[in-house]
Amino acid sequence: MDQSSKTEQPFSPIEVNLESGKDYYWCACGRSKSQPFCDGSHKNTNFTPKKFKIPESKAVWLCTCKKTNNAPFCDGTHRKL
Ligand code: FES
Repeated sequence: MDQSSKTEQPFSPIEVNLESGKDYYWCACGRSKSQPFCDGSHKNTNFTPKKFKIPESKAVWLCTCKKTNNAPFCDGTHRKL
């Protein structure tokens, strides 16, 4: 039987290629199964996803620990958890 394993570091940022001018919704609650993006799982919580755009198409690292001080981007806070 496959036991789901946990990584040594529970949270790490996810690198995604984003397009300029497009609306993105970053998961703020941590429940989304489509990390780092919202999948609607925040329903019935006090969280709302963070809508954002980027000025130019590029790869960025988005936070999954939800403790960043620069949402939706990783700021390294996950290393202190
Ligand atoms: S994943 Fe790096 S600050 Fe949250």
